[in-house]
Amino acid sequence: MSKKYFDHIIHGGDYNPDQWIKTPEIWDEDMRLMKLAHINSATINIFSWSLLEPEEGVYNFEWLDNIMDKLHTNGISVILATPSGARPPWLAQKYPEVLRVEENGIRNEFGVRHNHCLTSPVYREKVRKINRMIAQRYKDHPALKMWHISNEYSGECHCELCQEAFRDWLKEYYHNDLEELNDKWWNGFWSHRITDWSQINSPKYRGENHVSAMKLCWNRFVSDSHISFYENEIAPLREITPDIPITTNFMRMYDGIDYQKFAKHLDLVSWDNYPGWDKGRNPEEALQTAFVHDAFRSMRNGQPFFMMESTPSLVNWHDVNKLPKPGMQELSAIQAIAHGADSVQYFQWRKSRGGHEKFHGAVVDHCGHENTRVFRDVSRLGSVLEKLDGVVGKYCNSKIAIIYDWENSWAVKHFCGYNNQNRNYLDECIKWYAPFWRKGISADIISMEDDFSKYDIVIAPFLYMLKDNTAERIEEYVKNGGNFVATYLTGIVDKDDMCFLGGFPADRLKNVFGIWCEETDSLPKGMSNKATFNGKAYDVVHICDIIHSTGAKVLGEYQQDFYAGMPAVTENSFGKGKAYYVAFRNDNDFSEDFCSQLINIYNIEQDSDITSQDGIAVRKRGEYVFVMNFSDSDKTINLNRRYLDIVNDKETDDKITLPSCGYLILK
Ligand code: GLA
Ligand code: ZN
Repeated sequence: MSKKYFDHIIHGGDYNPDQWIKTPEIWDEDMRLMKLAHINSATINIFSWSLLEPEEGVYNFEWLDNIMDKLHTNGISVILATPSGARPPWLAQKYPEVLRVEENGIRNEFGVRHNHCLTSPVYREKVRKINRMIAQRYKDHPALKMWHISNEYSGECHCELCQEAFRDWLKEYYHNDLEELNDKWWNGFWSHRITDWSQINSPKYRGENHVSAMKLCWNRFVSDSHISFYENEIAPLREITPDIPITTNFMRMYDGIDYQKFAKHLDLVSWDNYPGWDKGRNPEEALQTAFVHDAFRSMRNGQPFFMMESTPSLVNWHDVNKLPKPGMQELSAIQAIAHGADSVQYFQWRKSRGGHEKFHGAVVDHCGHENTRVFRDVSRLGSVLEKLDGVVGKYCNSKIAIIYDWENSWAVKHFCGYNNQNRNYLDECIKWYAPFWRKGISADIISMEDDFSKYDIVIAPFLYMLKDNTAERIEEYVKNGGNFVATYLTGIVDKDDMCFLGGFPADRLKNVFGIWCEETDSLPKGMSNKATFNGKAYDVVHICDIIHSTGAKVLGEYQQDFYAGMPAVTENSFGKGKAYYVAFRNDNDFSEDFCSQLINIYNIEQDSDITSQDGIAVRKRGEYVFVMNFSDSDKTINLNRRYLDIVNDKETDDKITLPSCGYLILK
């Protein structure tokens, strides 16, 4: 169980005083403006390496001393970054091995950022060294509250050092046994039996790219390389500042790193939230963002997380960068808090004058003063956040879990077969999360390795891969009274991407679900089947299993094609629990209707008694209930009792009207 690190909601964000080093009067103006905007934290030093160490071994920390002191004097705490996200040009020039090699085998020239070799001993040493100096210098600085490691770790490197590291990783994974690797990769196929480790290279389009088991290993290796790079970065920090918490900023559901695994190495999870609001689909965007918040919240057992970045207005990297309408970013920030964030942080405080991000939204625009819509909004939100000390550190308890597993997402992506066009795993998981979100019922997003026993219902969409013991753990869970929902293509391969023999879903799961799957059909775009459930017909699209009941009760059947009349939805009593199998994909309201039934049967209560309705999200955290209007119109909402309105400090009626983008925080 984690500690509570802060007493107040952190309100701040990326601050780049190093870009304004020649205009110290701007630093002073920043202090004035930050206080005006109710900012209590600044994240600094993210991209400062070339200023800190302008030449190898020549250091310049005075400016950082200065800004740390200035922030502290003004009551603003510091989240201090390690600068590995972008290296100085001299470092790349002198040690080219730090530069990444692309899949095409060509080494990058110096440029951009987030593109170091993950293995390079030189880079690891240089990073360790600068991090040690920073930690030693600021270990006792009263402003230092947290470490921000690097920035948005991502990507992969195909250099010789990384190839060798990949081979070493494989040796460990396959117990130094080449025969085991040949077996697991099914290398008899297309004459691929390997006789020496040196014959293995990273997967690439001009080389090996058809061995899905190998691609899975590469994903795991790359992900582990990021984690080991991170461990190397934090070693001096843990040694010198053992009490300062450590995080690194994740990116939405980025699939290049197994965040569920990485999260265990952090003190708290943080992520950068950039939804595409105001493109005519805000409720949908709100749903997807809620899912991501809950995924990050669930990675460390419900521990509050940080929203490390968000834009206070627009971004510069969408195809078309629409201005969000007034109130939208504020609502977006409140959504984060409602789902378990203990911070609202922006990218960035002050707009750059030049460079690639000079048109990215910031709290302080090029005009330089506070008389802007964005500044006023940020400042108002800051004063609201000051009323929310009571939510800081508060966990949410969910009775529902949706399994979204990073390794399964890789496996689903890599296999060739069935429907190669339409199998979006993430969308499918969000679809099964949606009914709970719409009804104001908190759900966790967990990996298949997490504990199931604390949930009333666990839903595992498209659980194609089963890791060691997953089948046993599902069996155990249902036997002891849990309710488990699986969908099409469940339990097809093991963790090494080898198909289970003896019929699907894998061995004991056939028993648990009381079915077996004989064939799987795929439906090209525009084609569909129908399945009935409770007298209603649902479209069957993309993928569906043709299953037989071996004891399960059939709740729904296919209507068309040669498998008309065969089971499409089943329920099996097993031990004290129930196992449901939904054999098809539906992209409309099946998950909604099916989950509503489960909610009724298992008496799953809404987190609050506020009546749910379209476009309105209700979320409880601690004693606080957040009501958010993501729709485009005013909504009248039945609160069903009176509450204390925290923002306006007055009692509500039991029915209220909330404008579009409006929100209420109730107690
Ligand atoms: C990312 C980065 C920031 C900045 C923003 C812009 O999240 O971490 O440095 O580039 O995007 O949206
Ligand atoms: Zn490399």
